[in-house]
Amino acid sequence: MAIISSKKQPQEPNGQPKKQPQESVKASSHQELLQAEAAVDEQGKQEESIRPQRFADYIGQKDLKDVLDIAIKAAKSRNEVLDHLLLYGPPGLGKTTMAMILASEMGVNYKITSAPALERPRDIVGLLVNLKPGDILFVDEIHRLSRMTEEILYPAMEDYRLDITVGKGSSARIRSLPLSKFTLVGATTRVGALTSPLRDRFGLVQKLRFYEVDELSKIVLRTAQLLQTPITEDGATEIARRSRGTPRIANRLLKRVRDYAEVKKAGEINQSIAGEALQLFQVDPCGLDWTDRKMLSVIIEQFNGGPVGLETIAAATGEDTQTIEEVYEPYLMQIGYLSRTPRGRTATTAAYKHLGFKPPNEQMSLL
Ligand SMILES: Nc1ncnc2c1ncn2[C@@H]1O[C@H](COP(=O)(O)OP(=O)(O)O)[C@@H](O)[C@H]1O
Ligand SMILES: [Mg+2]
Repeated sequence: MAIISSKKQPQEPNGQPKKQPQESVKASSHQELLQAEAAVDEQGKQEESIRPQRFADYIGQKDLKDVLDIAIKAAKSRNEVLDHLLLYGPPGLGKTTMAMILASEMGVNYKITSAPALERPRDIVGLLVNLKPGDILFVDEIHRLSRMTEEILYPAMEDYRLDITVGKGSSARIRSLPLSKFTLVGATTRVGALTSPLRDRFGLVQKLRFYEVDELSKIVLRTAQLLQTPITEDGATEIARRSRGTPRIANRLLKRVRDYAEVKKAGEINQSIAGEALQLFQVDPCGLDWTDRKMLSVIIEQFNGGPVGLETIAAATGEDTQTIEEVYEPYLMQIGYLSRTPRGRTATTAAYKHLGFKPPNEQMSLL
């Protein structure tokens, strides 16, 4: 059972090996730079030193912070536990970070686990009975809970009660055990995959959105300061622009640029050094990776700009439909390169231009 408690060294919960690219073209090491999931080496101590610890250091996500700020103050003033909270959004946007910050702002302990680690009923039972009043239980990838685990969670979330079946067959009885009042924080990239009884038991359901370039610049500047790396504002902006709206990627790119600047004895990271380094690492000026580009070029070259069905895009890129929908499409839509229509996905004029294709003229697109 992968459980990490706040008293020990906190770590990213999902220690699974990273998915291997499925096609040789994608197997370039540079490609990994733009993956939003945490790489194995990003779950260590140094990573934790750059993770914001307090609300004030958590940059951006204003709506989320406003809602949580009120929830924290209200809970504190009434001396109650925080409502159960569901955080959803693409990987690398700060869900785990927010869960840890909540615990420190509330002055409580937290336990981190992830749904695949809670396969057997006794895994979740063990966690629940050990919670102290007010504790935060963070369950990552909560859409992957097994049915039995989920059913144990219902009364636990609703009435802080554990219902256990004792005995078998006709002599089976349900015994209830009281639990400490706790807060469940669930995180998922797929809110649609949650069962509705589970979703309904969260008092707060909040979406994390992609970060704007100026927010990511601030994150890069903050991380650079913690890493004691000299950087100019436009250097930070250059990195931010190529980070797919994702803090985890921004921090990763910064580290690669720092290596480059050190080797080149550049002194500080400015716009041209950052640009040079990222070009060398084949990071697209908009942060697109091989799969993004392949998706768009398939739509443009093979289907005249679309609409194209999700399955077709998935087959052409060798990704599964889920990853396309949860990781790739949200960012492409955010930057206005892709639109989703009932008949399928279409590439926008901006996407044509970015990939160096001639956009179809107005006349043609009206037909
Ligand atoms: N709002 C933020 N401000 C500053 N850094 C952030 C913010 N959100 C995330 N990060 C950085 O990005 C990394 C990934 O965030 P994390 O919370 O692990 O993402 P998720 O759990 O959503 O995949 C963290 O290590 C942290 O350093
Ligand atoms: Mg996480």
